[in-house]
Amino acid sequence: MKALEVRVRRVRKGDIDRIIDIERSWHHLSHWSVDSYYRLLNDDNFTSSFVAEIEDEKGRSKIVGFIIFHIAASVSEIYNIAVENGHARSGIGKQLMLAAIHESEGRKASKVVLEVRKSNSPAINFYLKFNFTIAGERKNYYSNPVEDAYVMELQVSD
Ligand SMILES: CC(C)(COP(=O)(O)OP(=O)(O)OC[C@H]1O[C@@H](n2cnc3c(N)ncnc32)[C@H](O)[C@@H]1OP(=O)(O)O)[C@@H](O)C(=O)NCCC(=O)NCCS
Repeated sequence: MKALEVRVRRVRKGDIDRIIDIERSWHHLSHWSVDSYYRLLNDDNFTSSFVAEIEDEKGRSKIVGFIIFHIAASVSEIYNIAVENGHARSGIGKQLMLAAIHESEGRKASKVVLEVRKSNSPAINFYLKFNFTIAGERKNYYSNPVEDAYVMELQVSD
């Protein structure tokens, strides 16, 4: 079988609708509005976040995953990462995370941080694979349904 060719590139304004489709392919994720995605991406002038594309059967590029993060005051914070449900577990999330870690190192962040629902074991396992550790908890951090978060972090440079 041909290996899946994945291209990771910086996010553009026109990608937001597709990002929302991917986020909505997972029912347990908190759903954000177009406006909140736009504000978040625009905050960083669309410079940090990435999407992953593959070619469909007709050779057209299709976005199948995204990672949104923000680097400020030496901390790189991941706000959201998702791979389209039907394409999970094929190495796409790994490529997105490696791109974000690389970008964070390049921009001299000392650590990468994120929050994750305590019940989201697939994502927790995914983060552990990159050597993220649990640094703390936030009570009732999520709504719909209300749930605590783990704060996870990865040191990337001194
Ligand atoms: C978490 C997520 C982004 C991972 O992306 P992915 O493309 O499926 O992950 P990869 O295929 O790159 O997996 C890399 C490694 O992470 C770990 N991993 C990924 N998914 C896992 C799962 N469901 N269970 C256990 N380990 C998992 C594995 O070690 C895997 O390596 P392996 O397949 O060689 O064993 C994806 O599952 C997703 O979009 N989930 C829904 C959205 C979400 O919950 N985001 C987190 C919000 S905080």
